[in-house]
Amino acid sequence: MSTDRYKNGREILPVGDDLKALIVNGSPRKHGSTASLLNRVAGIVNEAGGNVNRCDLVDLNFDDCHACMRCRDSGACAVDDDMQPMYVRMRDSDMIVLGSPIYMGAESGRMKCFVDRFNAFLLPGKVRSGFTSSLGKGKRAIVVFSCGQKDGEMVFNHLNVRYFNILVRLLGCEDMRSFIVPAGASPEASIHSPQARQMIEEITRFVRSD
Ligand SMILES: Cc1cc2nc3c(=O)[nH]c(=O)nc-3n(C[C@H](O)[C@H](O)[C@H](O)COP(=O)(O)O)c2cc1C
Repeated sequence: MSTDRYKNGREILPVGDDLKALIVNGSPRKHGSTASLLNRVAGIVNEAGGNVNRCDLVDLNFDDCHACMRCRDSGACAVDDDMQPMYVRMRDSDMIVLGSPIYMGAESGRMKCFVDRFNAFLLPGKVRSGFTSSLGKGKRAIVVFSCGQKDGEMVFNHLNVRYFNILVRLLGCEDMRSFIVPAGASPEASIHSPQARQMIEEITRFVRSD
């Protein structure tokens, strides 16, 4: 991480070989369309010289949020499961990349469960809708949804808004890009659609902070 993180009073967000990206696949299919899109995102980060730390939620053993609310007092989730290393990995990353298939108009169940557990990052406070975030400053986020419908980016636009509210407004990420990409005839073909090409262009600029 660069030691000179500020320019004209604004934080310089990590790019190039300073960048540590955590990529999380919420699909039960480890080699499906979501994975294919996330592979391309990983490639973009690697091409920019950054480091990728990747995981599939299907490999992790974690509960739904217990709603015990002990995180509000302690600042940490009390549930001892595979979310504990994920909290560490999220705090340690400069860029958080979430990918999920769209199931019945929403993210996958595993991704919903994962995101619900972000409740542990929220501390009572006076900003961000009554919370402060303990995730850490200076992070950026990318969210990629894969769907069956050709016009998914029109139909599921509410997901872009919801994830912006979670990652930027609640958790305090500096900036976010999100994409809804229709699946191709095969997972590999998913990255050749016009929507995927636009995603690749925008993420390339975002990762490089162009
Ligand atoms: C249970 C289930 C529900 C789905 N619901 C929708 C949906 O509401 N809208 C849609 O466009 N596609 C839907 N799909 C299609 C998937 O979103 C699509 O095939 C996606 O590319 C799968 O990603 P994956 O290959 O990473 O698993 C659904 C698929 C499954 C298995």
